[in-house]
Amino acid sequence: MEEKIRKIKQEAFEEVGKAKNLDELSQLKIKYLGRKSAFNEILKSLKDLSNEEKKIIGPLANSVKSEIAGFLEETERLLEIKSFDWAAEKIDVTIPGQKIRRGHLHPLSMVRNEIEDIFTAMGFEIADGPEIETEHYNFDALNIPKDHPARDKWDTFWVKNDSGKERTLLRTHTSPVQVRFMEKNKPPFRIISPGKCFRNEATDARHEHTFYQFEALVVGDDINVGHFKFIAQQFFSSFFKKEIDVRVRPSYFPFTEPSFEFDISCSVCQQKGCSVCSGTGWLEVGGAGMVNQEVFVASGYPRGRYQGFAWGFGLERLLILRHRIDDIRLFHSGDLRFINQF
Ligand code: PHE
Repeated sequence: MEEKIRKIKQEAFEEVGKAKNLDELSQLKIKYLGRKSAFNEILKSLKDLSNEEKKIIGPLANSVKSEIAGFLEETERLLEIKSFDWAAEKIDVTIPGQKIRRGHLHPLSMVRNEIEDIFTAMGFEIADGPEIETEHYNFDALNIPKDHPARDKWDTFWVKNDSGKERTLLRTHTSPVQVRFMEKNKPPFRIISPGKCFRNEATDARHEHTFYQFEALVVGDDINVGHFKFIAQQFFSSFFKKEIDVRVRPSYFPFTEPSFEFDISCSVCQQKGCSVCSGTGWLEVGGAGMVNQEVFVASGYPRGRYQGFAWGFGLERLLILRHRIDDIRLFHSGDLRFINQF
């Protein structure tokens, strides 16, 4: 019996040592340690041996079995390494990496930051107000009472609210921030307030239901139209990086008195006349005026105590003029072909 075990061991080591691949090896595993292997037969027949023999053969059989198993395992590892396709695993460190594309700010955010920089450099503060506004701040406090025909100019999206309190709406301009700021602050001050506005109107290349405005408000003891003109000229000259002139034309807003529309000298042709300014040399920009005393009163100031100017206009308009964009709807289109040009 002992002899037989030693023979199996020798054979197994010889054959396993010659195995050329993993397939051959797994066949040998079955042959030497499998259920039907000669070795298994020996282990099964141990029970028929005398006690004396069991003491010798038992431990011998077990140790030979684990020796064969160990050698099989070792050979398997070697064959695995040999058969591994190292060429396929090669890493070419010279292949260019995958570029991670970074986005950038929306052109409207960029222009807003730029405007804020110009104004804060001139000592202006930046004020903010809610996009969902009350009827009071959007209209009444700005001297636009209910049923006043001027309300037609700012057609509104009303916002359903069951509070039973005030009616709310999507603000149609940034002018409500004037009153909100004045209620909490005492003149003199200079602020700008950029922000999103909404109007319930049909859209076309020049009109959008959602757009950005930016309000300026300067209040003190003796602020006059000359201050407005100077600040506006300073701002537009910095913005367009060239000397810009400003002119005012009479107009009407309930919250300013007197009111005007203001134009800037054409930033494209230096007033020689071009297609952008339709040959006039001037570009329409926005509305402005001296703050109506009614608005001061609504904000809690005594009538006649202060003077100030305010202006408001669309941020999109600035970009349209600077880049000659022909359709305002592009700004909110989400079209990357447009956005990526900035
Ligand atoms: N709020 C006005 C508008 O949206 C613009 C404006 C602002 C006019 C401040 C005068 C003064 O049309």
